[in-house]
Formats: sequence, structure tokens, C-alpha cells
Amino acid sequence: MFQILEKKIIAPGVTQAVLLAPEIARSRKAGQFVILRFYEKGERIPLTIADADPEKGTITIISQRTGKSTAYFEEMPISEGILDVVGPLGHPTHIERYGHVVCVGGGIGIAPIHPIAQAFRAAGNRVTSILGGRTRDLVILEDWMRRASDEVYIATDDGSYGQKGFVTDVLKERAEKGDHFDFAVAIGPVPMMKAVSGLTKTMGITTIVSLNAIMVDGTGMCGACRITVGGETKFVCVDGPEFDGHKVDFVQLMHRLNMFKDQEREATAAAQPVKEDENPNCIKKRAFDGKE
Ligand SMILES: Cc1cc2nc3c(=O)[nH]c(=O)nc-3n(C[C@H](O)[C@H](O)[C@H](O)COP(=O)(O)OP(=O)(O)OC[C@H]3O[C@@H](n4cnc5c(N)ncnc54)[C@H](O)[C@@H]3O)c2cc1C
Ligand code: FES
Repeated sequence: MFQILEKKIIAPGVTQAVLLAPEIARSRKAGQFVILRFYEKGERIPLTIADADPEKGTITIISQRTGKSTAYFEEMPISEGILDVVGPLGHPTHIERYGHVVCVGGGIGIAPIHPIAQAFRAAGNRVTSILGGRTRDLVILEDWMRRASDEVYIATDDGSYGQKGFVTDVLKERAEKGDHFDFAVAIGPVPMMKAVSGLTKTMGITTIVSLNAIMVDGTGMCGACRITVGGETKFVCVDGPEFDGHKVDFVQLMHRLNMFKDQEREATAAAQPVKEDENPNCIKKRAFDGKE
């Protein structure tokens, strides 16, 4: 059972939580994720480790409400523990001194890009971050990203904050104004990663993307997270989550993410609001029942 020390809403539908997980906090590296299961019959969901404090033994995760499990997480009382937190999983980001690295994060993708920007900066790179969101409220972690970057540019689709437009518009504009980027990282919605990779390909900038394929076991056995990269089948959980953005078959990934939409809609509609005293996983209730 993993204790939740803090939990708050940082944007509409976006929950930030600090969990006590000392071993994961000590060993995690940028780019890695955990798979969580909130209660015994719950599904397993992957979330990136957005930050960690090895001394306090804590990790920070940020979850966007998209369906049943993320809605459960947003609503669950802080007294409740998380049944399983498995990790760190996935290959860490390959960090080296490239020179000038551009980190392009869209929406919830800003959470996974944060530790990567930190690590590139710590390795001596100049880091420019371009952050995007549909609207002002959805541009998360701006202060974290300012601390992790040399420069930060912001774009919103509706122009409510920063520049009006997409992150790709800002990237193009920076290049036209003379910025030379040696390496790019793009994390966000699949169409955004596809668009950034298309642009950086024309600019000749090597680009990595972190893919959000649907996962079940996280061990490379079930095949749920398979994708095609450069014509080869890969598994996001064990071969990724990062891949060469110029080689990923994004159209296939989008198709696979939509495969279970009807079942997900049904599961979300059938989900009941979380009640602390009815939950078998609740630390308070278990202590009261004398089970812990
Ligand atoms: C390596 C990795 C890191 C991730 N990091 C984050 C993160 O830091 N923050 C965050 O908010 N989200 C992250 N995600 C996506 C997150 O796992 C899904 O949003 C979540 O599993 C949805 O669960 P749900 O039951 O709420 O929604 P569901 O009702 O199950 O699904 C809603 C939509 O979410 C997507 N989805 C569903 N299940 C999964 C799954 N197991 N894996 C991936 N996508 C899924 C599908 O597109 C689906 O249509 C990450 C995914 C991966 C693979
Ligand atoms: S999650 Fe099962 S193979 Fe990757």
C-alpha cells in the first residue's frame, strides 16, 4: 500500500499527487514511469514520474482525467492508499550534451517533459522549452519548467496566454529568428507529436517522442502497447516509452488508442462516485477495522 502525502488539482481535470515510494524515488531517472492500480479490481494505468525527492522518498505524479481510473484518482480521498505502484519502468531518456535542446510539451505532456528538461540542463545543455495548451488554464507547471529551462515560450490555441497558435508555430518562429536547435523532445497529444516530428524532420533536428500507448501488463507480454517504428514492431512498455519521432507510425498509434473508446465510455458511465467509508482500500477504514 502506497501512501498519498499530498493531492491537489492544478488545472481543470489535472491532479498532482505526492506519493511515498522511497525505492522508486531513489532509483528513477528522467523519462521513466510507474504503473498504478488503485484497488484490487482496478485497471493498471501508466503515469510518468514528473518529479522525485530521493531524500524524502517521494515521487510526484500528474494525472489528467480521461476516463474511469483517472477520474477515480481525482476523486479519491487522500486518506486512501494506492494498492500497487510498480516502477520505475521504461528506459530512461538518453541524456548527453548536444548543445541546444528544445523541449516541446503540450497539455499533460508538460508533466513528462519536466524531468527530461531538468536532466538535459544538468548535463550542460541550453534548454529552450515551448509549452502549449488549448487555453491558459491548461498550461501546467509553468514555474517548474521556468526553473528547468533557460528560456520558455508559451502558446495557447485561443490566445488566452502567451502567443496565439500551436507549439509548432513557435518552434518555426524561433528557428526563423535564428535559434539553432541540436536536439528536440516532443511530448503531448499524438497529433501534436506527429506535427512537431514532421517539422523537425524538415529542419534536420533529431527528435524523440514519449508515446502514450494503452498498456496492460507493462512487461512486453500482452502486446497491448505495440506500435510500429521504422517498419518494426516495438512495445512501448519495454522498448520505450521514447522513440525516434521521425520513424513512429503515428496514424497506427492514434487508431489503436481509439480501439476501446466504446468500452471506456461504458466503464466511465457505470463508475460510482468514490465513498471513503465504502472503499476496501482505505487506510483509515483498515486501521479502524484492526486490519493494519
Ligand atoms: C508511458 C506512459 C506515461 C503516461 N504518463 C501520463 C502522465 O504523466 N499523466 C497522464 O495524465 N497520463 C499519462 N499517460 C496516459 C494515461 O495512462 C491514461 O490517460 C490513463 O491510463 C487513462 O485511464 P482511464 O481509465 O482514466 O481512461 P480510459 O477510460 O481507460 O481511457 C481514456 C483514454 O485514455 C487512453 N488510455 C486508456 N488506457 C490507457 C493506458 N493504459 N495507457 C495509456 N493510455 C490509455 C486512451 O486514449 C483512452 O481513449 C501515460 C501513458 C503512458 C503509456
Ligand atoms: S503493456 Fe503489455 S506488452 Fe506493453
